[in-house]
Amino acid sequence: MKHRNMLLALLLLPLTAMATEVKSPNGNIVVTFDVVDGRPTYSMTYKGRDVIKPSHLGLELAKDKHASKGLQESDLMDGFVILSSQGREVDDTWEPVWGETSEIRNHYNEMAFYLEQTKRSTSYTGDGTAPGLALIDQSRHMIIRFRVYDDGIGFRYEFPQQENLNYFLIKEEHSEFAMAGDHTAWWLPGDYDTQEQETQQTKLSEIRGQMNKAVNWGNSSVAVFSPTGVQTSLQMKSDDGLYINIHEAACLDYATMHLELVDAETKTLTTKLDGNSNVYTPNPKSSPYPLPQPFTFVSHLTPDATGLKGAMQTPCETPWRTVIVSDDARDMLSSNLILNLNEPCKLEDTSWIHPTKYCGVWWEMIVGKSSWNYTNDYPSIKLDQIDWKKVRPNGRHAANNEKVKRYIDFAAKNGLDEVLVEGWNVGWEDWANMWKRDVFDFQTPYPDFDIKMLNDYAHSKGVKLLMHHETSSSTQNYERHMEKAFQLMNKYGYDAVKTGYVGDIIPRGDHHYSQSMNNHYLHVIKEAAKHHIMVNAHEATRPTGICRTYPNLVGNESARGTEYEAFGGSRPDHTCILPFTRLQGGPMDYTPGIFVTKLSEWSQNTSWARITIAGSLALYLTMYSPLQMAADLPEHYEKFDDAFQFIRDVACDWDESIYLEAEPADYITVARKAKNTNNWFIGGKCDENGHQSTIKLDFLDKGRKYECTIYADAKDAHYETNPQAYVITKRVVKRGDTLKLQEAPGGGFAVSLIAQ
Ligand code: NOJ
Ligand code: CA
Repeated sequence: MKHRNMLLALLLLPLTAMATEVKSPNGNIVVTFDVVDGRPTYSMTYKGRDVIKPSHLGLELAKDKHASKGLQESDLMDGFVILSSQGREVDDTWEPVWGETSEIRNHYNEMAFYLEQTKRSTSYTGDGTAPGLALIDQSRHMIIRFRVYDDGIGFRYEFPQQENLNYFLIKEEHSEFAMAGDHTAWWLPGDYDTQEQETQQTKLSEIRGQMNKAVNWGNSSVAVFSPTGVQTSLQMKSDDGLYINIHEAACLDYATMHLELVDAETKTLTTKLDGNSNVYTPNPKSSPYPLPQPFTFVSHLTPDATGLKGAMQTPCETPWRTVIVSDDARDMLSSNLILNLNEPCKLEDTSWIHPTKYCGVWWEMIVGKSSWNYTNDYPSIKLDQIDWKKVRPNGRHAANNEKVKRYIDFAAKNGLDEVLVEGWNVGWEDWANMWKRDVFDFQTPYPDFDIKMLNDYAHSKGVKLLMHHETSSSTQNYERHMEKAFQLMNKYGYDAVKTGYVGDIIPRGDHHYSQSMNNHYLHVIKEAAKHHIMVNAHEATRPTGICRTYPNLVGNESARGTEYEAFGGSRPDHTCILPFTRLQGGPMDYTPGIFVTKLSEWSQNTSWARITIAGSLALYLTMYSPLQMAADLPEHYEKFDDAFQFIRDVACDWDESIYLEAEPADYITVARKAKNTNNWFIGGKCDENGHQSTIKLDFLDKGRKYECTIYADAKDAHYETNPQAYVITKRVVKRGDTLKLQEAPGGGFAVSLIAQ
């Protein structure tokens, strides 16, 4: 990632004690910080309106048997004074390797508050003949750093290396976010293991009543922790029209944060899981600190197998806690605050990282028409005890030479870069939720998948195969085999891997979003980078912008993807929410592009996708990702080849992006300029109510003509009754012209503007 060092202003203020106000560069956002009765306290306003009312900050530490050896166990919650503060203004611009824009401005005012938790004790120093007392300084130091942008804030805790704070265990982080009212929230149940739920839209006061209905307990790994626990990124809207989003940035070597709401009924804050049974019960030993005001969210970190939330060694810091705010919903989508709070790129050579359009041997297995596994003849398998050549095939195995060649041909003909093949490697016979450690070796292909021949065939046609490593959440097993698996990829010319973490984590007891698991995902990204491999991790923790630092992390799932259209379906407004929530931290491998939405037309599956074909095309714009799949079967695309033309044409890397219209759960319209071209693409996606868009083409170049192709819902299109009704029209347009487009219920539109 190129980092153009254009530091325009760096203002180092002299150490001034008790500086308590920090303003955004345009003055709209004001953060106030103070220590009140020994507790760090902050608040935040936007254009004079309350966003965060006075809220405490602090960490509760765990008691541990090693305390006598120096592991610190007294809390970092109170007893603080401000020693000094230091501020600066930073305004620089950097160029992402891939992204929604070719340049990103990083402009903020920073203030670091240096805090001391003063504690002195006396100790007997006498030698028996002359008694004496010495004063021992046990004070500890912590920095709370704020960065205040025009579109929001980030703050984090920093722990310098110091005599009295070298190692500590986190019992809980208590960062509070006191809301100014009973906002509308788009939330997912707080869960240590899954993010693949349907988003709920309720008032904050209604979260508790809605929680049980909100959880799909049948997911392959569920661990809900509280009746008022929700996930980030959490999008809210106040009654007077403020959009507020809480998330985190740069979650590295730390557990993923959830939020627990203190509401009118809350008696005890921290709740805990009852063993492995997916049930939450109030924790009688909850925090000794008084509960904050109702409508306050308090951070709730994901525990590891021991129940603890973090093992820290100074110097270290927490991730940034972020609050994005605006009175215009479009600003939520164009915000780069989370990327900006991450460190610049750490990879020296990024020339091998590229945006990718792909198809795959995938959807037909998800739908149930064919299988990942090769045989049905064994009740279970042990990888080292089977001679695969002698095994009887089940006749349904999708990843076979003939089928993969068919997909390669399709990709080559249609300008798709890669072909994902799932189920190519042995082990799929009993892969999920058996607590099976040695589940895959990621190296041995099934007998009907000729890895060399297929890669040679693909390369001869200018296409690459995209590797699949389903780990089944057996993380030690993956780490053991990873180096050889990456070497195999290098040998055959794969440059991207889709990883997966289905099921409960092995070693048992750990959770998908704990500190240890977050370290695992990062380890995979770093090791992959050494082999020039791009990573797209499914079921991994929700992203927090670390793709800026490691741009070979080109995608994550970490939410309810298109696969759920085959598991009962997602609501039509689902994709009008995700850009406000899940996508704040980084791109999603949503796998769009379903054209034959009624699955029973070609399979036994009675589920159906709640979207029109024109709506599916819109997702290539509204769900930004440098990795875009054309997920449906080649024969389905061949049937609607004129609509597929848009997927052939659309770019997945951009110089410029302009959000034209947006309202959470209602509609999103965005125009994007394809990287290094003069071509623009526009996408609009709406919910079940339909939407009328009026687009002024005032972003086009002056004096230039564009060939405009519009892929719109037909007048009678409807996501349920008539999803395949679309109209394609062509005309020549110029700057200043207006497009009026009607989106059907559950529909959308896509427009390509090719410069003449
Ligand atoms: C879940 C992933 O989201 C899906 O894309 C994949 O096909 C299956 N796991 C199997 O790995
Ligand atoms: Ca998944």
